[in-house]
This record gives sequence, structure tokens and C-alpha cells, in this order.
Amino acid sequence: MLRAGRLVALPTETVYGLAGNATDERAVAAIFAAKGRPHFNPLIVHYSDDSAVRRDTIFNETADALVRRFWPGPLTLVLPRAPNCRISLLASAGLDTVAVRLPAHEVARAVIEAAGHPLAAPSANLSGAVSPTSAAHVAQSLGDKVSLILDGGPCRVGVESTVVDLTAVRPAILRPGGLAREEIEAAIGPVAEDDGSDDAPRSPGRLVRHYATRLPLRLGATDAHEGEALLAFGSTAMSDIRTMLNLSVAGDVVEAAANLFAMLRALDRPGEYTGIAVMGVPEHGLGRAINDRLRRAAERG
Ligand code: TXA
Ligand code: MG
Repeated sequence: MLRAGRLVALPTETVYGLAGNATDERAVAAIFAAKGRPHFNPLIVHYSDDSAVRRDTIFNETADALVRRFWPGPLTLVLPRAPNCRISLLASAGLDTVAVRLPAHEVARAVIEAAGHPLAAPSANLSGAVSPTSAAHVAQSLGDKVSLILDGGPCRVGVESTVVDLTAVRPAILRPGGLAREEIEAAIGPVAEDDGSDDAPRSPGRLVRHYATRLPLRLGATDAHEGEALLAFGSTAMSDIRTMLNLSVAGDVVEAAANLFAMLRALDRPGEYTGIAVMGVPEHGLGRAINDRLRRAAERG
């Protein structure tokens, strides 16, 4: 199907992706159309080996160090396109850079290898909605727009890859994600964070409201108000399992990341609740990615 230019949803260790041939402009255009994604927001291109990445991009020493340490895994690098880069210009959204990653999930790797070309794959949800961490989530939101959904079970990491821009003098995290900043800095030293508030944000997809639930979110809650559902973190006095889910009773941010999107979806029932109260999650490790997604989901309008 991929060789014929069609779209296939597949599991990665982070979230499910909506994949198409990254070297085929028409397949890439079909991805934007299926998601309703604005064309200024470029896609991540997935490879099964880093020698192919090195042909399509201009590598540097920092990229080398990161790749040796963290690939395959939840890390995406933004690099300059090589002069003979095979990747669709649409996938780069007209930029002279391309975002690349080597996923760790065996199904993703096997499919990329069998396809014989890299795959452009954004998260397999409608643009702006909560990302899918199971095949059932994909079927709910894109079921009629995709030729095939490969079911690889729930995603181990649960939040999208960390996006690191290596095209400027100083490496910058454009999107906190499944690889913690602390780990990246231990490998290459201090990195900047681009929170999208600059005049010219380096990550075009970061400006829009994202990960939107139908119900409003109330962040930093300590318990639920009348009518609200509670998304808890750590031990809590409240124990009504009809209105509460706990990201991690043990207070583990890695476990919380893996549960985040599935629990947000499960509580997002406008007929039953008036809103979702979310308890605070510490701002370290994968907690940064969790809080980033929650803040964007809480943006209204
Ligand atoms: O974990 C993931 O990264 C998942 C799985 C499927 O691999 N994919 C994913 O793709 O989250 P997507 O398209 O939903 O997010 C891509 C992010 C966006 O924030 C986009 O703006 C940024 O990467 N991005 C892509 N290409 C870029 C580029 N050339 N320069 C700057 N940012 C880029
Ligand atoms: Mg996405």
C-alpha cells in the first residue's frame, strides 16, 4: 500500500503515526488532507537506518553525538536538507530543513524497511486533537481516511518525540517530548528552549492550540469540583473511580506520560462531566512534555 502511494497508520514507541511515502509529493499531500493539517506545518520523516538519513540531510558533530546515543528512539532532529535530498518539499513545508527520526518500535522499523523508502508520519489524529496511543484511537478519529491501521498495542512512551533543532549555532528544543531534556544535555551540554513566543518561532506547528479535548481543562487542581472529572497524579485522598483516573499513583512521570493521552480521551465525556480537573505534574524529565501537552490542551478558543 505504501509503495502504491497510500496511507497506513502504524505504531511507534511514542504515538501512532499516519504514514505515507516521504519521497512522493502526492502521498505527502494526502497526509495533510486526511489530518486537515495546515500546509505551513512540516512533517517528521521516519527512517529505518541512519545512513539513509545522512544522505538526505547535512549532518554535524552534534547530530552525530545525539544519534549515537539516542537512536533508535523518541528523538527528532531538524537538519538542513542535503542538496540531493529525496524528501518531498511539501513534507518540509517549504523550509530548507527536514525533521528526521529513527523510531525504536519494531513494527515501524520493519514497515519502513519493507517499503524501501522513508515515511512521512505525523501523529495519526485530526489536526489539533489528542494524539493516538492505540489502534482504537486511530480508528475513532481517522478510520475512514486511512487504508490500513496496524495494531501494535499501546505505545510504550505515550508522548511524541522530542524535537531538537540543530540548524542554528545553539541546539534548541522545539518540542519537549519522550526523551528528557536532562538526558540530551548530559550528552551534548546546554540546549535552548524555543517556547514558540519568539517573533519567528522555529517550529511552525507550535503556535496553534493543540491536543484539544472537548471538555475544558482546569490545571493545577488539587481535587475535582462538583461535576468535574479528575485526572490525578500521585497519591490522592479522592478515590471515586467513576470520576477519577490516576496518571501514576506512584508519582512516576514516565508512567504518567504513557497514560496521558488515553486517560484524557477516557475522561473527555461532555455528557457526563462539565470539565476535567488536572492535578499538577512536576516539571522534570518527561513531566515537561506532559505539562506542555496539558497547557496546549487547556488553551480555549
Ligand atoms: O513521536 C512523534 O514525533 C510522532 C510519531 C508518529 O513519530 N510524530 C509526530 O509528528 O508527532 P507531528 O507531525 O505531529 O509533529 C511534528 C512536529 C511539529 O511540531 C512540527 O512543527 C515539527 O515537528 N517539525 C517538523 N518539521 C520541522 C522543521 N523542518 N522545522 C521545525 N519543526 C519541524
Ligand atoms: Mg501531532
